[in-house]
Amino acid sequence: MNDQSASLKRPLIVGIGGTTRAGSSCERLVAAVLAAAAELGADTRLFDGAALAALPHYAPDHPGRTPGQLALVDAVRQADGMVIGSPSYHGGVSGLVKNAVDLLDDLRMDARTYLDGRAVGLVVVAAGWQAGGVTLTGLRGTIHALRGWPTPLGISVNNMAQKPFDADGMLVDADILTQVKAQAVQLMRFARPAA
Ligand SMILES: Cc1cc2nc3c(=O)[nH]c(=O)nc-3n(C[C@H](O)[C@H](O)[C@H](O)COP(=O)(O)O)c2cc1C
Repeated sequence: MNDQSASLKRPLIVGIGGTTRAGSSCERLVAAVLAAAAELGADTRLFDGAALAALPHYAPDHPGRTPGQLALVDAVRQADGMVIGSPSYHGGVSGLVKNAVDLLDDLRMDARTYLDGRAVGLVVVAAGWQAGGVTLTGLRGTIHALRGWPTPLGISVNNMAQKPFDADGMLVDADILTQVKAQAVQLMRFARPAA
């Protein structure tokens, strides 16, 4: 591939996030960041709450992998950037999301180890102000451990005080929409520095 065709390649942004709940707000927000990135020229793939719930518990002593586990690891391996969204459960990342993140240990022997060189947008939804900040900080620490680059803008939503979505699931809160678009811009700048 020459330099020109390399610069024309559409970045792949992979999203992980959601809960098992229908209408999961953190899943919708991850999807919204992916949609904003797609508008900026990205290809995207979302591993939603249902996909995460189908993953077995990560077990370091069991090297066998299900098709779902292989699909997630392979997508992240190809990714030029990521979005990870979690609810705050008891002041931290949910087990469902952390289970998927732990599976990324399968990238440790890659030439591009773990999330090396990739920006990661983070989205947290809580039912209060305090847990959102704490969970976002914890998630940032996890991404640093995986050598990823959390975007400067992390998104923390308090769904008791804010109403991000209308009855049809459309993101209607103008402030949150601004943050979603800003995070997508930061992801794309990192994934495609010339953009
Ligand atoms: C098991 C559990 C623990 C929770 N713990 C907290 C918490 O510590 N602080 C908080 O603000 N909200 C807490 N919540 C509320 C969720 O963070 C909030 O409802 C979030 O929107 C759920 O995400 P979802 O809409 O994607 O399902 C908890 C919810 C559950 C089910």
